[in-house]
Amino acid sequence: MSIVITGASGKLGTLILNQLLHKVPANRLIACVRTRETARPLEELGITVRYCDYDHPDSLESAFTGASKLLFISSSHHDDTIRMRQHAHVIEAAKKSKVEHLLYTSFAFPEKGSIPLTHLHVATEHAIRATGIPYTFLRNALYVDFISTLDLNAAIEKGELRVPPGDWLFNSIPRQDIALAAAAVLAEPGHLNKTYELTASDPWTFSDLTAALSDLAGRPISLQQDATIQNWIYGFLSKIDPSSTSNDLEQLMGRPPTSLKESIKPFISL
Ligand SMILES: NC(=O)c1ccc[n+]([C@@H]2O[C@H](COP(=O)([O-])OP(=O)(O)OC[C@H]3O[C@@H](n4cnc5c(N)ncnc54)[C@H](OP(=O)(O)O)[C@@H]3O)[C@@H](O)[C@H]2O)c1
Repeated sequence: MSIVITGASGKLGTLILNQLLHKVPANRLIACVRTRETARPLEELGITVRYCDYDHPDSLESAFTGASKLLFISSSHHDDTIRMRQHAHVIEAAKKSKVEHLLYTSFAFPEKGSIPLTHLHVATEHAIRATGIPYTFLRNALYVDFISTLDLNAAIEKGELRVPPGDWLFNSIPRQDIALAAAAVLAEPGHLNKTYELTASDPWTFSDLTAALSDLAGRPISLQQDATIQNWIYGFLSKIDPSSTSNDLEQLMGRPPTSLKESIKPFISL
């Protein structure tokens, strides 16, 4: 009964493994990493470490041997065409290794998005379904980290957050919440052929953001629309769907998702 995790030395993988250690013995956990040195802390926790590189199919089959459950953390490569090939390697190896249950970190409501990233996740999910291996799709909302592109510290300093005009909606989640939900799914039996939308229960707006910022700063931060703002993030955000929500995350974690105010705290210096 081994739980094998790829991308295990990354930020999400490490958080999931740390949560899993509260639920299953370390000797049932196998961390697959591309660079051995990054896995030292995992080895020190008693977790078995195996080499795996999405670009080297040979490494994958042996890495996945004996996996009752394989959590495939999507590749972090910046080129979605290369990512598609890497994902195909992982899926093929999972099939050859006779993985019993394949879990994949997808993106929330990907069918409603219109960027290469969302197409990649839809295609990967289809490829996984085509193997016939029982699957679970953990469709992650945008990590709250994107907030760092909005320069909140400057907003606090000036007492004003400048934003582009429009009715913007956002849905973001800290990795810690996703890790808690993923660990629950990995540690329990079942969850076969399920798709979970790991989003906040409600989207938030720029007004919600300035309210949270004002609370944290202890003084009012106003909101100003500014049509001259040029920031790549708004092009990206306009092509994903932040308005669709789900209670899946709350149900899997057994508690409400972290509030906006709490989740932005690590990104501001007061
Ligand atoms: N929902 C969102 O907002 C959002 C945002 C960013 C990313 N993501 C996706 O979520 C995933 C996990 O996020 P994260 O924060 O944990 O990312 P991360 O810290 O960058 O970790 C990515 C992990 O994937 C591994 N990896 C990359 N290329 C690989 C390859 N060719 N073969 C084997 N392993 C490889 C990395 O290994 P090395 O340490 O060797 O590089 C690392 O362990 C990302 O990979 C990305 O697909 C989602």
